[in-house]
Amino acid sequence: MTIEQIKSTFDVEIAACKNANELQELKSKYLGKSGALTSLLKSIKDLPAEERPIFGSKVNELRKQMENRFSSKGEELFAAELERRLREERVDVSLTSCSHRGALHPITLVENQICDLMIAMGFEVLSGPEIETDYYNFQALNIPYDHPARDMQDTFYITDNILLRTQTSAMQARVMERKKPPLKIVCPGKVYRSDSDASHSPVFNQIEGLVVDKNVTLCDLKGTLEYIAAHLFGPQTKVRFRPSYFPFTEPSVEVDLTCSNCGGKGCSLCKETGWIEVLGAGMVNPFVLENCGIDSGKYSGFAFGIGVERVAMIKYGIPDIRLFYENDLRFLKQFGK
Ligand code: PHE
Repeated sequence: MTIEQIKSTFDVEIAACKNANELQELKSKYLGKSGALTSLLKSIKDLPAEERPIFGSKVNELRKQMENRFSSKGEELFAAELERRLREERVDVSLTSCSHRGALHPITLVENQICDLMIAMGFEVLSGPEIETDYYNFQALNIPYDHPARDMQDTFYITDNILLRTQTSAMQARVMERKKPPLKIVCPGKVYRSDSDASHSPVFNQIEGLVVDKNVTLCDLKGTLEYIAAHLFGPQTKVRFRPSYFPFTEPSVEVDLTCSNCGGKGCSLCKETGWIEVLGAGMVNPFVLENCGIDSGKYSGFAFGIGVERVAMIKYGIPDIRLFYENDLRFLKQFGK
């Protein structure tokens, strides 16, 4: 091929180049080791000596032109590629509706909210097994085999000594055996009871709180619960203790909050009382402390167990606990905002 021929096919081919790969191929086709221009240079030896310098400088001139074309074409292709990507990969941040966005389950929302409040107060979050031994669920908590308190919780037994935990209180002895005071822990998790109606589910969620230290009093328990209640239901929420009984706390209390629906005036949600019962609590029974090797003369503690579904039902005005587990999108979508 003559210089002119090479030049004109090159012009056509480089103009048709569509991307960086093609350009690279073209470059080796013309300027590579066995490229067209290189073979042209090699043919210089067949020319008469006086023509060689002119021919050589023409070839070099062409090489320079080609190199310039390659670099300008390269820039052109790069800019076009960038332009294409900016166009095609554009994200419209102004889009307001996205039909497939997920949302947290209301139980998860409430559980996270309570745990976050506890973390802010310096509590450590721990989790334990749902399949539990009779020892941790009952005996370590001062509930021996023949204790009538076992009737308060209809237990799913797996064997005589293994069961589905009926309360997150099962974590109390587990933790106190391993960790020594001062301790401030919170244990969220599932618990199981053979019970089912509009306000009871065979599986539900509790959050256990446990504090053991020197000089812990019922006032500390009340202050902690008031802080949680104020953040869950608003600063005007009042906390009331009523005497109760749990084998593992002494004294024991049922904790009521002023009804978030009527503000304490009385309505159908609070059965006209102005108060809603939300959890059980008390001072850790010295028997439980001693059982775990903690000196009850030196240390005291409080514990409480919150029913997560119960709080969520009050907070969102949900009339039936079963709505939480049916996974009806019309229900769940309301919490996605
Ligand atoms: N475990 C008790 C229940 O499930 C609640 C509770 C927890 C009571 C901690 C006192 C202390 O009913």
